[in-house]
Amino acid sequence: MSLARNILLRASRSAWLADELRRRAFFRRATKRFMPGETLDDALGAAAGFAAVGIGTLLTELGEQVTTAAETEGVRDHYLEVMRQVRSRGLPAQISVKLTHLGLDRDRDLCARHLRHLLTGAEQSDSFVWIDMEESRYVDATLALFRTARAQSDRIGVCLQAYLRRTPTDLEALLPVSPTIRLVKGAYSEPPSVALPSKRDVDAQYFTLASRMLEHRAAERVAGRPTLPVFGTHDTQLIERLRDRAKALAIPRDAWEVHMLYGIRSEDQRRLAADACTVRVLISYGSAWFAWYMRRLAERPANVWFVMRNLI
Ligand code: FDA
Repeated sequence: MSLARNILLRASRSAWLADELRRRAFFRRATKRFMPGETLDDALGAAAGFAAVGIGTLLTELGEQVTTAAETEGVRDHYLEVMRQVRSRGLPAQISVKLTHLGLDRDRDLCARHLRHLLTGAEQSDSFVWIDMEESRYVDATLALFRTARAQSDRIGVCLQAYLRRTPTDLEALLPVSPTIRLVKGAYSEPPSVALPSKRDVDAQYFTLASRMLEHRAAERVAGRPTLPVFGTHDTQLIERLRDRAKALAIPRDAWEVHMLYGIRSEDQRRLAADACTVRVLISYGSAWFAWYMRRLAERPANVWFVMRNLI
């Protein structure tokens, strides 16, 4: 991992820095590169703009490691309201949640109950719930909660991180339950014993895992909703290689998706959508943007120079 990436990821855990920077108007403006605004209305407005050009969206209220029961209930109710508004506006939008935002750190049973509520909401509003993957210490609990939820509903998907050494084993263990998986490279600071330190190795493991997901999809014969391989990446070379792989396996173009983040490679998002690829853009909103914003800077430390240039 590069030094700059390491420093930015460590900084993302500083409550003091979060407090200082969140109060600065300049930093609030700088986040606009990666989010349309802090309110749900800002996010829904952006989602409507994407829908007009054939791109679906995923909505995430920023926040993580929430510890009071009342706060977690607020988060659950917020997402239920999001699904209602999405349905009433007829938007092709789904939700993507962090389990620590729903109380995983506080009480796993409470978090499971909130997730069940969200699934019921998704059934009622014909929607879909994605679970993000956080630091490696949450992977076991996240996958266990995903399995329980998957047994109740097929309107749930989970994120797996290609940088984790354990992910090939996790993927094999999940495939029999016909999971919907979004594969990403991984955004947190992890020790080399847990995550592959070299980007080249992460990219190679991503391609191997993604190919396995496509092969499983090609061989799958299930009743109900089949596995949906989803590639959460802006790595367009990787996407082209996976597109070739899907074609070779005769997987229809609407049987796999590409997910990207708001503000990153926007032209490629439109180009892929125009080229019959199913694309969704993840839109984050909310005021708790500090840790999330630092992770975006860490993904491409050159972004820091962009911030500094504008500051000067
Ligand atoms: P890579 O880092 O190789 O980037 C490829 C190219 O994309 C770069 O060359 C650059 O042009 C562009 N790019 C990438 N990041 C950029 C940035 N921040 N600013 C500007 N340009 C950038 N992670 C996680 O651990 N848990 C999760 O739940 C999720 N969820 C998630 C959902 C979705 C929809 C996406 C797209 C990503 C995530 N991630 C995530 C983040 C993911 O792990 C990863 O950190 C980023 O996607 C960056 O990696 P890439 O795959 O884009 O490749």
